[in-house]
Amino acid sequence: MPPFLKYDKRLRAAVLVSGGGSNLQALLNAQKSGLLKSAEISLTVSSSADAYALKRAAEAGVKTYVLQEEDYLNNGFFNKTGYSANLLSILAKNQIQIVVLAGFLVILGEPLLSAYKNKIINVHPSLIPSFCGDGFYGLYVHEAALKKGVKITGATVHFVNDVTDGGEILMQKAVDVKQGDTPETLQRRVMEEAEWVILPQALEALCASLILQKKDL
Ligand code: GAR
Repeated sequence: MPPFLKYDKRLRAAVLVSGGGSNLQALLNAQKSGLLKSAEISLTVSSSADAYALKRAAEAGVKTYVLQEEDYLNNGFFNKTGYSANLLSILAKNQIQIVVLAGFLVILGEPLLSAYKNKIINVHPSLIPSFCGDGFYGLYVHEAALKKGVKITGATVHFVNDVTDGGEILMQKAVDVKQGDTPETLQRRVMEEAEWVILPQALEALCASLILQKKDL
């Protein structure tokens, strides 16, 4: 067998979700169309039992798992380490090599971050470093962008580390803000024009490069 064929494989990816799952759908579509060829969506983990994303995963035949954030609350405090440790064991059991946060609203910590260092990516609905960090998620991001009056916003795919939205940037795409935009119309345009485009592209680029580098996976 020629040596390159030895590494001609797809990485097993888990997509973590909390809600609608339109970014998960973009990844599933990219897999179907052949754009995503270096990764296989093997698992979806949701932090909420009624996330519509779970239906999308099931329809595509992807294994699902629910790990509810509310089950890790002690006297109102979120047990980040407990949640992250259990998530790590689910990922390990499923031999996951790469993790994609696609609208996943739980803040992750150790021991997961070290175990999957430079193997976890997130899509954020702004041009980081604008409108990011704790408290900036979903519609709040677009509300803040409109309040500030920026004329250009967009989306970012970045590595996940212990600083919220603070990991190295892999890909960004700009989107025009239009007169009369509401948080909802802006959110939709940022998703359509930026998130659904760059998330599959960034995942493909990262996995292709890991396979090429023959990194320990
Ligand atoms: C997306 O806009 C995603 O970028 C955002 O939540 C939405 C989820 O939509 N994520 C964050 O704000 C994380 N900081 P989806 O469930 O339809 O993919």
